[in-house]
Amino acid sequence: MPDWSPTSWKTKPAEQQPLYPREDQVARVVDEISTLPPLVTSWEINALRAQLAEAARGERFLLQGGDCAERYDHCDSGTIANKLKILLQMSLVLALGGQRRVIRVGRFAGQYAKPRSDEFETRHGVTLPSYRGDLINAPEFTAAARTPDPQLMLRGYERAALTLNFIRALVSRGFVDPARLDYWNLDWVKDSPMADEYRRIAHQIGESIRFMESLMGVHPGELQWIDFFTSHEGLHLPYEQAQTRRVPRQEGWYDLSTHFPWIGMRTADPGGAHVEFFRGIRNPIGVKVGPGMQPDTLKQIVEILHPDDEPGRLTLIHRFGADSIGRFLPPLIEAARSTGRTVLWSCDPMHGNTRTTADGIKTRNFEEILSEIEQAFDLHAACGNRLGGIHIEVAGEDVTECIGGARGLREADLKLAYKSGLDPRLNYEQALEMALFISRKMSRGA
Ligand code: PEP
Ligand code: CO
Repeated sequence: MPDWSPTSWKTKPAEQQPLYPREDQVARVVDEISTLPPLVTSWEINALRAQLAEAARGERFLLQGGDCAERYDHCDSGTIANKLKILLQMSLVLALGGQRRVIRVGRFAGQYAKPRSDEFETRHGVTLPSYRGDLINAPEFTAAARTPDPQLMLRGYERAALTLNFIRALVSRGFVDPARLDYWNLDWVKDSPMADEYRRIAHQIGESIRFMESLMGVHPGELQWIDFFTSHEGLHLPYEQAQTRRVPRQEGWYDLSTHFPWIGMRTADPGGAHVEFFRGIRNPIGVKVGPGMQPDTLKQIVEILHPDDEPGRLTLIHRFGADSIGRFLPPLIEAARSTGRTVLWSCDPMHGNTRTTADGIKTRNFEEILSEIEQAFDLHAACGNRLGGIHIEVAGEDVTECIGGARGLREADLKLAYKSGLDPRLNYEQALEMALFISRKMSRGA
């Protein structure tokens, strides 16, 4: 690509970038990160692209999930292991219902930069830069904390490396034994209107794994059968640029900060810096598609980012809200189809369903989340298309951030264990319930 380089994004308008006090310090940090080892490898990236190509053909299903924003001070073994466990369990439930292999992609090891609607925040007459994620500044409302600090990029690279190191160790050898259903917390199932059906699915998973074990003569926990990939919003362009390299025996440039970067809804401008940067990297990429996206704009984006129709290259992650998906999705499916390119469609049922309670707490209603997923399956099918994945914000723990679910979490319960500093996540039980819901839907032909 002769007219592209890792820095060509600088010639385009770049939204959502922090204003650092000293650009020379940013350049020094970018130089330093450029010399450090990559976080992921080109062959892992190529393997993921091949798997996403299969998902686009209906042979696999994509499960992508994790925190809205990872925090540097939550880089601990419990948080990481629990996140991995819920994604693994969800993937088994989905594989059973969908009768296809599931690609597991965590929103982790780099999900540190957040887009904000306002550049500044004012409290009691004092105005400071908004908190943009740990990669950029800190949330405390002081001038020192809120001033963007380029050293935080280095801390982020290190935290991502620590996270990834632990994940690689966990998945390489029997960390969760899926055959042991007592590792699964299914107490809540009795409270679900679908209790019997959900119990049957859970039982079937145990049976399938035992069958595999006797057939192959090996314990699944001993196999290196668990692939996990990483993803984050590729928002902070200097951080991404610093890890974008050529590698031996491969064409082109790879962003080695993550396997699967995506462009957020607020930065998906065909003429903007993010689309310019993503255009030149060989990674499979995602683009968030929200209610403001015009069909013509989506066409342009697909044509710029996916010129060669390379299998697995582009995933469109739509996020409209349960009320709006029926109106917005069909024309966008048509627009993507008119480009003649194959894309993978994934549904983010979280970001279009965010509400603020009367007490000012950000939440999401589990029933609306499931409704958006159900509509997504049906709308794709009605358009002769296929939903090939989901993208969620999830904690592996018993947080109380989204209302509803089998346990009937109410607004008044939100204060019990609300831990997210940003968007509300599904808790462990809600996430499993969602997986069972989707599994049931897929087993009925979705
Ligand atoms: C996110 O995924 O956390 C996010 C900010 O999403 P979107 O770009 O879709 O609003
Ligand atoms: Co979010």
